Amino acid sequence: MKIHFAVYIFTTCFFGCVSVTSFPVPPSPDQVEILLAFKNEFPSRNCDPIWNTPDVVFRSPNIGSWTKEAVSFDGVVFDNATGAVTELNLGGACISGTIQANSSLFRFQHLRYLRLFINHFDSSPFPSGFGRLANLEYLDLSQNGFIGEVPSSISNLSRLTSLDLSYNKLTGRFPNIHNLTLLSSIDLSYNQFSDTIPSSLFTMPSLWYLDLRQNNLKDPLENMTSSPTSKLVHLDMAKNLFSSRILEPISKLPNLTHLDLSFQNTTYTINFDYLPFKSLEYLDLSGNSVSVLNTSSENLSFLILSNCNLTEFPTSIKTLQNLRGLDVSKNRLKGKVPEWLWKLPSLGNVNLSQNSFSFLEGSPEVLLNSSLSELDLSSNTFHGSFPIIPPTIQVMAASNNYFTGDIPLTLCKASQLILLDLSYNNISGSIHRCLTNVSVLKLRNNDLTGRLPDIDSDSLVLLDVAHNHLSGKLPRSLVNCTSLKFLNVEGNSISDTFPFWLKTLPKLEVIVLRSNRFHGPISSSPERTLSFTALRIMDISLNNFDGTIPSDYFANLSGPLVNPPQGNLWPEYRGDWHYKYPTEPWYYPSIDVRNKGRNMELAKIPDTCTIIDFSGNGFGGKIPESIGFLKALIVLDLSNNGFTGRIPSSLAKLTQLESLDLSRNQLSGNIPQEIRVLTFLAYINMSYNRLTGQIPQGTQIGGQSKSSFEGNIDLCGLPLEETCFRETTGVPSTPQTQGIEPTKQEQVLNWKAAAIGYGPGVLFGVAIGQAFASYKPALFYKLFRLAFEF
Ligand SMILES: *[C@@H]1O[C@H](CO)[C@@H](O)[C@H](O)[C@H]1NC(C)=O
Ligand SMILES: *[C@@H]1O[C@H](CO)[C@@H](O)[C@H](O)[C@H]1NC(C)=O
Ligand SMILES: *[C@@H]1O[C@H](CO)[C@@H](O)[C@H](O)[C@H]1NC(C)=O
Ligand SMILES: *[C@@H]1O[C@H](CO)[C@@H](O)[C@H](O)[C@H]1NC(C)=O
Ligand SMILES: *[C@@H]1O[C@H](CO)[C@@H](O)[C@H](O)[C@H]1NC(C)=O
Ligand SMILES: *[C@@H]1O[C@H](CO)[C@@H](O)[C@H](O)[C@H]1NC(C)=O
Ligand SMILES: *[C@@H]1O[C@H](CO)[C@@H](O)[C@H](O)[C@H]1NC(C)=O
Ligand SMILES: *[C@@H]1O[C@H](CO)[C@@H](O)[C@H](O)[C@H]1NC(C)=O
Ligand SMILES: *[C@@H]1O[C@H](CO)[C@@H](O)[C@H](O)[C@H]1NC(C)=O
Ligand SMILES: *[C@@H]1O[C@H](CO)[C@@H](O)[C@H](O)[C@H]1NC(C)=O
Ligand SMILES: *[C@@H]1O[C@H](CO)[C@@H](O)[C@H](O)[C@H]1NC(C)=O
Ligand SMILES: *[C@@H]1O[C@H](CO)[C@@H](O)[C@H](O)[C@H]1NC(C)=O
Repeated sequence: MKIHFAVYIFTTCFFGCVSVTSFPVPPSPDQVEILLAFKNEFPSRNCDPIWNTPDVVFRSPNIGSWTKEAVSFDGVVFDNATGAVTELNLGGACISGTIQANSSLFRFQHLRYLRLFINHFDSSPFPSGFGRLANLEYLDLSQNGFIGEVPSSISNLSRLTSLDLSYNKLTGRFPNIHNLTLLSSIDLSYNQFSDTIPSSLFTMPSLWYLDLRQNNLKDPLENMTSSPTSKLVHLDMAKNLFSSRILEPISKLPNLTHLDLSFQNTTYTINFDYLPFKSLEYLDLSGNSVSVLNTSSENLSFLILSNCNLTEFPTSIKTLQNLRGLDVSKNRLKGKVPEWLWKLPSLGNVNLSQNSFSFLEGSPEVLLNSSLSELDLSSNTFHGSFPIIPPTIQVMAASNNYFTGDIPLTLCKASQLILLDLSYNNISGSIHRCLTNVSVLKLRNNDLTGRLPDIDSDSLVLLDVAHNHLSGKLPRSLVNCTSLKFLNVEGNSISDTFPFWLKTLPKLEVIVLRSNRFHGPISSSPERTLSFTALRIMDISLNNFDGTIPSDYFANLSGPLVNPPQGNLWPEYRGDWHYKYPTEPWYYPSIDVRNKGRNMELAKIPDTCTIIDFSGNGFGGKIPESIGFLKALIVLDLSNNGFTGRIPSSLAKLTQLESLDLSRNQLSGNIPQEIRVLTFLAYINMSYNRLTGQIPQGTQIGGQSKSSFEGNIDLCGLPLEETCFRETTGVPSTPQTQGIEPTKQEQVLNWKAAAIGYGPGVLFGVAIGQAFASYKPALFYKLFRLAFEF
C-alpha cells in the first residue's frame, strides 16, 4: 500500500482545484465590467513551467481571453439565475502583481469560491479587502508570496468552510479565524506566523483538518476547557516551537487520526508516556528527543520516530497490531532487533537505518512470514549472513553493514523486488541470474566474484557493481535493458573490448568502466565515432584501451555533453516513505571521481555533471579536435596516455570546463593561447609533457600551482618562475605567432563549425568568455573543493 500524504495534499490542488469553464448563461453586464477591470489590474503575466511537468497536465485558465463580447469566461462560474460571479478558479493563471486594497476583486459580492493559488503576488501585503467578500465559502491563496499579517477583517468571512494560505510569507499574529464556526479545513503551513495559538482552535465546531506545519508558532497560553467536543481528525504541527505543554490540549482530542509533531525547535526531551488517542492512525514525533513512548491506539498504522534520541526499542509498539509502517532511523538503538516486531501482522515498511543494530533476534528465517515490502537496514553494524527475505519484498536496502556470505537465493523468489542495495558489506559469491525485475541494483564494495550474469530487464535503471572481484565480459544482454541510465562496473577485473553495443540504450547517461581489464581501441571501422544519445559521464580510465582516436570521434554526440543537462532528477523510484518530502528523491546513484589526482566518492551526482575521463590507458596519436563539440563538458581527463602532437585549440570551446588534466602524455608545441577564455577552469594539469613556449596568461591559469606545468621541455611564464624574456634576445617567445597557427586550425574546424552553429573563432573572444562567467556559477567544481580542501 502506498501512502503519499503530502503528495496527496499537493495533488488535490493540482487535480481537485482544476478550473472549470463557465456555464453557457449570459453573465450580467456589471459583473463582466468587474471582470475586465480585474483583468486590467494585472497586465503582466508571469507563467511558471511547473504546469508543464510530464505528470501533470494542467490547462492554466487564461484571463487574457476575457473580453466584453465573450459569452464564457475562462475560470469563471456565474449564477444561473442572477448572472453574478460565484466562482473564480484562477489557480496557476499566471497573474502577477499586487492586489490593491481597492481591487475590483473585492466587488464580487456574490463570490463563494475563490481559488487564486500559484500566482505571483510576490511581496504583496495581504489585502484587507477579502473581508468584504462576505459570501466566501472557499478561499485558496496558497503559493503566492503574500507577506505581512493577515488583517483582522478575515474574521468577517463567517461562511468560510475552507481556508488555504499555505506557502506564503505571512508573519505576525495568528489569523483571527477562531470565530469562523463553519471552517472545516485550515491550512496555514509554510509561513512565518510567530505567535501563540489559541487552544480554542482545536475545538472549532466544524474543523476536521488543521495544518500549521513550518511556522514559528508557540504553545497556547490558556488550558482548554474540560472535555471539549472536537471533530479534529488531521493535525499537523510539525516544525514549530511547541513544547511538551502542547500535549495538554491535544490529548483531549480523541477523534484525531493523524498527528504530526515532528521537529519542534525546543531543547528539552518530550515525555510521551501517555498518548490517550484511541483513533490515531499516523503519528510522527521525529526530530524531538523522546524519553518514553506509550501509545496504544489500536488503529495506529504509521509510526515515525526518526531522530528521536531513542536508546531502547519502544516496547509499546508490540501492541500495535495494525502497524503498517515503522521508522526508527537515526536513533541510538543497538544490539538486537526484537523478534516480536516481525510478528506484527500488517507491518510492511520498516526503516531501521542509521542505528547500531547488530543482529536480528531469532532464526535466519525470522522475516520469512512477515508481510514486509520495504526494509531499510542500512548504516548499522549487522553482521553474519543475510537474513532470508520474504517474497513480498519490494525494497531491500542494507548498505554499510558487515553482512557476509552469499546474496540469499530467496531474493529470486521476490518477484516484486524493485530495489536491492547491499553496497558496502562483505558479501561474497556470485550474483544470481534471477534478479530480473529490479530497477535499482547496488552491490558496490563487496567481495563478489564470477561474471556479471545476464540481466534481461527493461526495468533496470541503475546497475552499480563497483569494487568487487568480478571477471569475464560485460553481459551482452545489457542491450535489452532499455531503461538503463547508469552503469558502473569500476574496480573489477572485467576483461572485454569497448562496449559500442551499449549505444542502442536510449537513456544511458553514465558509463563507468574505470579500473578493469578492458582493452583494444575505442574506435573501429563501423564504429568510428561515439554515438551514445544520452551520455554525460564516460569514465573508461585505468584500463588497457589503446590505439588512436579519430579527429571526429566526438562529432556525432548531441546529448547532455553538448547541451547542458536540465534538471533530470534521479531516481526513477521513490520509496513509499516519501509522504514527508515528496519533492526530494532519496535514491541517488554515486560514482567515484578523480580530481587533482585524488579519488573520492561523489555520493550524489549533480544533475548537470558531465565528465570525460580516458586517463591511464595506452591511447596515442592526437587529441581529437572534435573535443570542442562537447560544449557542456565540465571535467576532462586525458592524463597518463601517449597522446602526441599539439593541444587542440578547440578546447577553448569548452566554456563550462572546470577541470582539465592532460598531464603525462607526449604533447608538444605551445599551449594554445585561446584557453585563456575558460573562465571556470579551476584546475589545470599539463605537467610531464613536451610543451614549450609561454603559458597563456589569464586569471584562472596564473592561479594554478607550479606543479601543473612542471616536467615540460621549455615552458615559461606564470605560474612558473621562468620568464619568457630571454637574456640573449630580449624578446618574448611570441606565442601569438608561434602558438596557434590560426589559418590551419580554422580550416580543420570548418567542417564542424556548421554543425555547432558557430563560425570558427567566434567563441574565442574574451568578451564572450566573460558573458558566460556571469551565466552560471561553477557549482560542480565547488562541490569538489568542499570535498578536497579539508
Ligand atoms: C445551473 O446550471 C447547471 C448546469 O448548467 C445545473 O446543473 C444547475 O442545476 C443549475 N442551477 C440552478 C440553480 O438552476
Ligand atoms: C486604486 O487606487 C489607486 C490610487 O490609490 C488608483 O490609482 C487605482 O486606479 C485604483 N484602482 C481601482 C481599481 O479603483
Ligand atoms: C464585513 O462585511 C460587511 C458586509 O457583510 C461589510 O459591510 C464590512 O465592511 C466588512 N468588514 C470588513 C472589515 O471588511
Ligand atoms: C467572536 O465572536 C464573539 C461573539 O460572536 C465576540 O464576542 C468576539 O469578540 C469575537 N471574537 C473575535 C476574536 O472576533
Ligand atoms: C494547565 O494544565 C496543567 C495540567 O494539565 C497545569 O499544570 C497548568 O497549571 C494549567 N495551566 C493553566 C494556565 O491553567
Ligand atoms: C468525534 O467526532 C464525532 C463526529 O465526527 C462527534 O460526534 C464526537 O463528539 C467527537 N468526539 C469528541 C470527544 O469530540
Ligand atoms: C530554532 O530557534 C532558534 C531561535 O528561536 C533559531 O535561531 C533557529 O534557527 C531555529 N532552528 C531551526 C532548525 O528552526
Ligand atoms: C479503528 O478502525 C476501524 C475501521 O476503520 C473503525 O471501525 C474503528 O472505530 C477504529 N477504532 C477507533 C478506536 O477509532
Ligand atoms: C501506558 O499507558 C497505559 C494507559 O493508556 C497504562 O495503563 C500503562 O501502564 C502505560 N505503560 C507504561 C509503560 O507507562
Ligand atoms: C539523548 O539522550 C541522552 C540520555 O539517554 C541525554 O543525555 C542526551 O542529552 C539526549 N540528547 C539530546 C540531543 O536530547
Ligand atoms: C534481447 O531480447 C531478445 C528478445 O527477448 C532476445 O531474442 C535476445 O537474445 C536478447 N539479446 C541478448 C543479447 O540477450
Ligand atoms: C530511512 O531513513 C533514513 C534516515 O531517516 C532515510 O535517509 C532513508 O531514505 C529511509 N529509507 C527509506 C527506504 O525510505
